[in-house]
Amino acid sequence: MTLDNMTPITIFGLDNVNYPKYRNELIDLYSLSFTEGRYAQHIDPQAIESSLDDIMSIGFGFMSFDKDTLIGAVICLALKNDPDFPFDLHKDIQPDKTLYIADLMVDQNHRGKGVALGLIEHLFELSNSKPYTDAVIRVWNENIPALSLYKKLGFVEIDMISQTKISKEKKEPFEMKKIYMHRKIIEN
Ligand SMILES: CC(C)(COP(=O)(O)OP(=O)(O)OC[C@H]1O[C@@H](n2cnc3c(N)ncnc32)[C@H](O)[C@@H]1OP(=O)(O)O)[C@@H](O)C(=O)NCCC(=O)NCCS
Repeated sequence: MTLDNMTPITIFGLDNVNYPKYRNELIDLYSLSFTEGRYAQHIDPQAIESSLDDIMSIGFGFMSFDKDTLIGAVICLALKNDPDFPFDLHKDIQPDKTLYIADLMVDQNHRGKGVALGLIEHLFELSNSKPYTDAVIRVWNENIPALSLYKKLGFVEIDMISQTKISKEKKEPFEMKKIYMHRKIIEN
């Protein structure tokens, strides 16, 4: 997919040095991406902040900007840091050589323009990901846009877990099925 040529979208690296500068914008983007719209869930604002802070203390990523406005981000870390991944069942996936894409979000007004595709392709191409041979993501089984995106990128389903989440409307717990998907970044 090509980006709309009229839109000057730029991609910048995100690390624990520049994270404080963009922290508030990333929190807002995260909050709007996951707590609004068709695939919304209730997430405690404090939980968003601490989750992002925790991931960025050891992780890295990329941010997309439309001029000076943050419109998308991908944040990842080594899979060994994901406490929910069923490592015992996937001995072929090396926890410290596999990139875990923990968060991917695009502002609602900028979706469908290739922003997410661009962020992930950037992630796989650039040097930060070089120690990694594989990539894994976890996605809600009802999140059609995300599932379609990952399939388009060559990810395949390898496992499923269930997590208790809080619904946006009724603020009630519900079981969310999460699919783990995998693809090779570098062929051995
Ligand atoms: C999922 C998300 C990141 C996609 O971002 P995006 O920038 O709109 O995606 P792109 O424009 O790069 O789309 C690339 C491909 O993804 C798929 N896709 C994206 N949006 C889609 C939709 N609404 N319906 C079906 N497929 C979709 C398509 O295959 C698309 O390729 P195509 O346009 O050639 O058909 C975005 O919808 C989002 O931020 N959602 C909320 C947060 C979220 O769910 N994150 C993922 C958590 S695992």
